[in-house]
Amino acid sequence: MKILVTGGTGYIGSHTCVQLIDKGWQPVILDSLVNSKVSVIDRIESITGHRPPFIQGDVRDADLLGKLLLEHGIEAVIHFAGLKAVGESVAQPLRYYDNNVHGSVVLMQVMQQCGVKTMVFSSSATVYGHSSAPPWNEQVPTSPANPYGRSKLMVDHIMADVAAADATCAMTSLRYFNPVGAHPSGQMGEDPQGVPNNLMPYLSQVAVGRREALQIYGKDYNTPDGTGVRDYIHVNDLAKGHVAALAYSHERPGHHVFNLGSGIGHSVLDMLHAFGKACGRDLPYNFAPRRSGDLDAYWADPQHALNTLGWQVEKTIDDMCQDTWRWQSQNPNGYP
Ligand code: NAD
Ligand code: UD1
Repeated sequence: MKILVTGGTGYIGSHTCVQLIDKGWQPVILDSLVNSKVSVIDRIESITGHRPPFIQGDVRDADLLGKLLLEHGIEAVIHFAGLKAVGESVAQPLRYYDNNVHGSVVLMQVMQQCGVKTMVFSSSATVYGHSSAPPWNEQVPTSPANPYGRSKLMVDHIMADVAAADATCAMTSLRYFNPVGAHPSGQMGEDPQGVPNNLMPYLSQVAVGRREALQIYGKDYNTPDGTGVRDYIHVNDLAKGHVAALAYSHERPGHHVFNLGSGIGHSVLDMLHAFGKACGRDLPYNFAPRRSGDLDAYWADPQHALNTLGWQVEKTIDDMCQDTWRWQSQNPNGYP
């Protein structure tokens, strides 16, 4: 199968391309490089022995998309291209809605014109409301708290409408919990620009000496050790989830929604200690006030993905930390 992977040089897209190639499928990558580097393609080739075609461009460019779908004989799309920084989305909502919502609409329009019926979309657990106790299944009421989350939920709704209007379309939303980790080869990983917002990239920059100490946001949450609890999922498990979701939905038109998570919650201190074990030293940290908007604890109910796709996570938090450390120590400044 020939698959257009938008955002394919990004963190999750690049790991998914490796899994697609392993499966014998052919990814074609479209990325504007707004948040990634073209050298990722070299790494995909070095890991798999196959160099996927790469087109630098924007998903909002309908002419480019139309040519690409037809010239490459694309049969399905995995749509990662999007902006993802929550704080930035609050400051620049129109940029987020334009990129994430308008970009997805253009993509679905061009797919329709070219007869491409299958799309798998990167959604997020951030679409769920904050009122339900974990674990969260796909029926938890949605109520995202910021423009980034709302942009994801809007695309989910649009996909449902498109699938309802055309009974031959297969539109699948994958709601990721907290993707972390790196390819076990150490050749691919997360490479945030500037100061990382998220826990794992921050921790790994502390470990490699680029940052002084981790600030732990809050020590009095209603959790066993007082620090926030999340469902961390290894990016390779997540990538395999995309392969499973694509294989399933390509044969089954409709609108499908799956949580991709482990079903297990880990605290900030759990992650700090696991990372210390992986890099062989205790990492410096101090406690800071809670970060606004953070919840105590949530994790996935991943039963629907297990029962329907036959997919579940295989990796532990030790794997996540070891693989992140291998990537970070071999590439202290990220991709060239
Ligand atoms: P990333 O920033 O590493 O990858 C996104 C890629 O999309 C980048 O390479 C960027 O250059 C590209 N891109 C952005 N806008 C584009 C556009 N208009 N046209 C073409 N390319 C464009 O992010 P990631 O962590 O790999 O996330 C991938 C997707 O998964 C995103 O949609 C994100 O919102 C979603 N997601 C990520 C997380 C997470 O924690 N990483 C969690 C839930 C959902
Ligand atoms: C973040 C995003 C969310 C996205 C999710 C997926 C924000 C506000 N939310 O969620 O939209 O779907 O990633 O990956 O960015 N922490 C620290 N110190 C740090 C960084 C984080 O203590 O320097 C703590 C946080 O308080 C939280 C945990 O670590 O308890 C995880 O934080 P983070 O990695 O930012 O993920 P989320 O907040 O869960």
